[in-house]
Amino acid sequence: MKLSERLLAIAHLVPPGSAVADVGTDHAYLPIYLVKNRISSKVIAVEARIGPWTRARDNVKRVGLEEFIEVRLGYGLVPIKPGEVEIAVIAGLGGETIWNIIEKSPDIVNTLSAIILQPMKNLHKLRKALLEEHFNIIEEHVVFSGNRFYEVMVAKKGKPVSFSDVDVVVGPVLKKKRTPEVLSYLKARINQLFLKLTKLEGKNSVYAAGARESIKKEIVLLQEVLKNGKLPDGN
Ligand SMILES: C[S@@+](CC[C@H](N)C(=O)[O-])C[C@H]1O[C@@H](n2cnc3c(N)ncnc32)[C@H](O)[C@@H]1O
Repeated sequence: MKLSERLLAIAHLVPPGSAVADVGTDHAYLPIYLVKNRISSKVIAVEARIGPWTRARDNVKRVGLEEFIEVRLGYGLVPIKPGEVEIAVIAGLGGETIWNIIEKSPDIVNTLSAIILQPMKNLHKLRKALLEEHFNIIEEHVVFSGNRFYEVMVAKKGKPVSFSDVDVVVGPVLKKKRTPEVLSYLKARINQLFLKLTKLEGKNSVYAAGARESIKKEIVLLQEVLKNGKLPDGN
């Protein structure tokens, strides 16, 4: 089994030796990789739907790792008991679903040493909710996998932090990174936003006007971040 670049990036953010919950495990590829590569010897894979849950259990059984990977059926972190894991991975889900999962289980989230998140969409909403609810975003990565970019972040419940629009739109860690991946990612996002603007051309509704306004603001912000590390919030 060859793990995608996206799941590999996630796997390598797991501190070796940690007990891990993989929420929305689907095929259980991540838990299997973590155990096979001796990154973790205890993974609880959680799945909300019966089909993927059965598939995950079958895959774990096929590789003979039932002793190390338990596959539980349920919503988010609800099937996890406090103290069972130190790390939770929530990957491949929408930002709003990820936030719902976090919000629903404060008793578990508060006991974790970190949560590794990889949202598929609504990244701004997720980052804003995390920052507003006093999560510190301690790491952010950009991964090019398949034919698109993904963001992976590591968050931890902490003390209140002040944050700006750049922190929400780009990310408190990512805004300081000047790696080729990050720069290409920011450029790709700007191009996508210009494409969206073109699609809104000739549309006169209030919705279209609002969308144009917020897209233009985001373009300016991303262009500022790209400019030689000079950030609009002065950081
Ligand atoms: C697209 S797959 C992602 C699989 C894997 N995490 C990855 O990143 O490759 C999303 C999986 O999450 C499951 N899922 C969605 N919402 C969930 C929730 N609230 N709790 C547990 N599983 C959920 C879906 O059934 C699906 O199998």
